[in-house]
Amino acid sequence: MSRTPRFLLVLLYSLATLTLAFTVQASEPAKPEVYKGDAARGQPIAATVCAACHGPDGNSPLAANPKLAGQHAAYLFKQMQNFKVNAEGKSERINAIMNGMIAAFTEEQMKDFAAYFAAQKQAGGEVKNRATLELGKKLYRAGDASKGLPACAGCHGPAGAGLPAQYPRIAGQFTEYTEAQLKAFRVGERANDPNRMMRMIAVKMTDAEISAVADYIAGLH
Ligand code: HEC
Ligand code: HEC
Repeated sequence: MSRTPRFLLVLLYSLATLTLAFTVQASEPAKPEVYKGDAARGQPIAATVCAACHGPDGNSPLAANPKLAGQHAAYLFKQMQNFKVNAEGKSERINAIMNGMIAAFTEEQMKDFAAYFAAQKQAGGEVKNRATLELGKKLYRAGDASKGLPACAGCHGPAGAGLPAQYPRIAGQFTEYTEAQLKAFRVGERANDPNRMMRMIAVKMTDAEISAVADYIAGLH
């Protein structure tokens, strides 16, 4: 063995290193498990801190604070991420209260909160204005072809249950909150909708149409 020519040793060594390099490259890079969130871990903070506005089970007592109960976890998590303020002081969704509220929490905690609220049962809402119910229903189910307004049902589902992970549940939400969001999308104050989906829709709606559809949605279940 000691007589093995030096060049051969070098060659063998190079081959070994090369093989190793290829093996490492060919094998899948170690993917960390994507953390899904844990409702039980989210509960202690969600049912106390968040509960102050959203209710202990995500059924907010006040219309200014959206109901989170029964909302899709992926949507809830996306909104929390969007409320996070970056180093430049900017956030994708602007709301002074939530921008502050979410600042202290990690991605894992946000996923835990999302899992917690998604697992709760939404209490459901009610229609307040019977006079606009037919208009709201028509807009929701069919949109308005004359001005290129698509049916809300097309994305949010016939009963407003949404479709995870992209389309939020809107059924049973407070009329006031839904109305405020549609108006915020209309003027671009809320601009975190992928591909401007909601901004392009809201811009085509009048105040009367927004109120009617928002009230109809409150009664959906
Ligand atoms: C002081 C009141 C208050 C507290 C406490 C609070 N929130 Fe909120 N939250 C709001 C308000 C108001 C909005 C609506 C913001 C808007 O109009 O854009 C909101 C919106 C949200 C939304 C978006 C819902 C949607 O349908 O798009 C999520 C998610 C959320 N909050 C999660 C949380 C979590 C998690 C906590 C606890 C860590 C929390 N909030 C604590 C007031 C509060
Ligand atoms: C092309 C698909 C599409 C259609 C059609 C559509 N939406 Fe949406 N909507 C979305 C998406 C996507 C979001 C989530 C945006 C985000 O990620 O913040 C959304 C969000 C919303 C929200 C905010 C929910 C919350 O909890 O804050 C409301 C309210 C809403 N839509 C109402 C409507 C109404 C009313 C109509 C019909 C006039 C409608 N949408 C039609 C895709 C759609």
